[in-house]
Amino acid sequence: MKIPDLLENAIEEKLKHVKLTELKQCASNLSEKYMYQERTGETLLNTEIEAFVYAIMRMPATYGAVYTALKNTLEGINYEIHSVLDIGAGTGAATWAISELLKTNNIRCLEREQVMLELGKAFMCKNLKLKDVSWQYIDIVKDNLDIKADLVVASYMLNEIKLKERKNVIDKFIKSCNHILLIIEPGTPEGFKNIKEVQKMAIDNGLNLIAPCTFQGVCPLSDSDWCHSTVRMERTKVHKILKDAVLPYEDEKFSYIALSKEQVDSTGIRILRHPIIEKGRIMLKVCHDGNIEEMVITKKDKELFKNVKKKRCGDRI
Ligand SMILES: C[S@@+](CC[C@H](N)C(=O)[O-])C[C@H]1O[C@@H](n2cnc3c(N)ncnc32)[C@H](O)[C@@H]1O
Repeated sequence: MKIPDLLENAIEEKLKHVKLTELKQCASNLSEKYMYQERTGETLLNTEIEAFVYAIMRMPATYGAVYTALKNTLEGINYEIHSVLDIGAGTGAATWAISELLKTNNIRCLEREQVMLELGKAFMCKNLKLKDVSWQYIDIVKDNLDIKADLVVASYMLNEIKLKERKNVIDKFIKSCNHILLIIEPGTPEGFKNIKEVQKMAIDNGLNLIAPCTFQGVCPLSDSDWCHSTVRMERTKVHKILKDAVLPYEDEKFSYIALSKEQVDSTGIRILRHPIIEKGRIMLKVCHDGNIEEMVITKKDKELFKNVKKKRCGDRI
């Protein structure tokens, strides 16, 4: 998958006004900041150049993660979405993905950092599909969220909220959604722990699990295990340079949960780990109607074998 051409063009256009050496220095400072300062609730990005580096480095991966999670979510529902809130929208990656999958032009991006908000808005201005997106300053911890939408998305933002504020923030997410709440976090044990916390609170509030879960109830995975999906994204030229990357793509791991205020049928089989393919057989770790199982599919299961061979971690069988 790759980011939309219009987004890539917007990034290219901005690149004409910045020195590559400055970007590289900023990228290295920023990744250190992200490594050590997450979960303090402090501002991580203050300057225009930091926001731009964030956009170059992280928008492709977060776009791919949101696109994949939302696609899986929409497969599990049978009603339409007419309005969206993208909370902690950053530079707007989630909204770019949402606009590829939904027809609504009622999307609001809510963000605390002015530099992110301004850049996100600027990137969208040449995309006709995104011209009606409204951007609004909000600090989701301190401010009341008195807006509602059919779909509420928070991607890669919960891990920036202090632990003691999480419940309050998740509660605001739940109250602001008419139908679906979609939370995406990094595909790490830490990110998955956040997802489990959302799952528990959502169940306590009567919400139903759409994806990736294949059952209704508390996740059976132990605390040392984690459920994640992956998406392969083409790197842009400048992404390769800033990351000193050799490969033309990156694999983004992410954990997510999609919840609905309506009843849903979420039964099925979800692949939990990268499939191991050996001669004539595929070995899988799966979540099957809420049970964690090891599955072996051989060539004898002709259609299934062919179908599963193309699947990745996080896909449904
Ligand atoms: C890692 S970025 C993710 C941005 C975007 N959602 C994405 O997926 O690319 C996290 C964003 O959450 C925002 N954020 C963090 N705490 C916030 C808060 N209390 N209120 C609103 N936004 C917040 C940050 O400013 C940042 O833009």
